[in-house]
Amino acid sequence: MRLILLGPPGAGKGTQAQFICEAFGIPQISTGDMLRAAVKEGTELGLKAKEIMNSGGLVSDDIIIGLVKDRISQPDCAKGFLFDGFPRTLPQADAMKEAGVKLDNVVEIAVDDEEIVQRMSGRRVHPASGRTYHIIHNPPKVEGKDDVTGDDLIQREDDNEDTVRHRLAVYHEQTAPLVEYYQAWARQDPKQAPVYTCVKGIGSVEAIREQVLKALGQ
Ligand code: AP5
Ligand code: ZN
Repeated sequence: MRLILLGPPGAGKGTQAQFICEAFGIPQISTGDMLRAAVKEGTELGLKAKEIMNSGGLVSDDIIIGLVKDRISQPDCAKGFLFDGFPRTLPQADAMKEAGVKLDNVVEIAVDDEEIVQRMSGRRVHPASGRTYHIIHNPPKVEGKDDVTGDDLIQREDDNEDTVRHRLAVYHEQTAPLVEYYQAWARQDPKQAPVYTCVKGIGSVEAIREQVLKALGQ
């Protein structure tokens, strides 16, 4: 199974990715998590990405495409993978097409902007694993602590309202065109193109999980 979870910042891509990856036994490839790890380690990539991410802009296509091509050539991706937060621009999507990366599904999780702005203020994350919580909608068992490790949870630096609004604007301008891109491809070449499904991302985490799994034939 090779699939893309598409959707605005805060749509619940990371939250749903965990269930899907478990159900299919495939790795989650979150370019955001990979970049945050690089920032934390202070690598050359991390130094380049830090300011861009904190401002809510996009890291350059060349860097991201290189990172993803490297990642999907690793042995654990042979069975498949889930892209979370990638592709995010038309050139990134084209790069996968040109490289002959065959995808089975694209699942869009649709949530409107105002809901997202509210959600983001309550997000808490476990940086080492990428596990994501929400103080009201998906709280950890112990306040402020990761369920698995007991480590402290943090708030992401790009989760303040101004940055979230900028990330949403960038999404509408650069990423939303991918909806039409994959829909048009599916119409023109249904054999090669991934199956496209849009799921409404409002409701309980469990209800959305059911819909996403259904879209994937489970
Ligand atoms: P990235 O980490 O990918 O961020 P994003 O796409 O903006 O998405 P988020 O991680 O914010 O949201 P999510 O959809 O995963 O939602 P989540 O499940 O956490 O990217 C960060 C930055 O890295 C970018 O801004 C860019 O700079 C750079 N970058 C990354 N990839 C790039 C690329 N390909 N090209 C260029 N630059 C790139 O859920 C959000 C909150 O809502 C949580 O608190 C969660 O608990 C809660 N929640 C989830 N589901 C529900 C529900 N059903 N109801 C209520 N609350 C819910
Ligand atoms: Zn995420």
